[in-house]
Amino acid sequence: MHWPIGLLAGSTLAFLLLAQSGRSESRGDAKLGKMIYVKNCVSCHGQKGDGLSFRPHFPNFADSKIMAAKTDQELFDKISNGGKGTGMPAWKKVLTEQDRWNVLAYIRTLSNP
Ligand code: HEC
Repeated sequence: MHWPIGLLAGSTLAFLLLAQSGRSESRGDAKLGKMIYVKNCVSCHGQKGDGLSFRPHFPNFADSKIMAAKTDQELFDKISNGGKGTGMPAWKKVLTEQDRWNVLAYIRTLSNP
């Protein structure tokens, strides 16, 4: 029997892509994340996420090139565990896991044109 391999591979890929995007969407709610960001993060990262002018070494969440190079897991881990001496606090004990995904979802919106 001959399976249409191309079709099979194609639909598997489509399924994986769907599963992937579905997952990251359901992980965080940017609207809820905004409230968390304004309350906990603005003082250091600034309203637009571009860092504050007097803190030039801070990361720039508004730069889509920089942000596209970082995985969600990388950023989530940084939010959870902090920078270990860089000044970025650990939020693991302050925010729930869902809240950390929500605030990450919000940060992602800052680099969308
Ligand atoms: C006291 C200041 C301060 C506060 C408050 C703060 N951060 Fe940070 N954050 C930093 C500094 C400094 C860095 C850069 C050093 C580092 O990556 O460890 C950083 C880095 C990050 C990074 C990594 C960015 C990258 O490009 O790798 C993320 C994500 C982040 N912060 C998210 C948050 C979130 C979300 C909050 C609020 C829940 C928050 N930060 C609150 C100071 C802060």
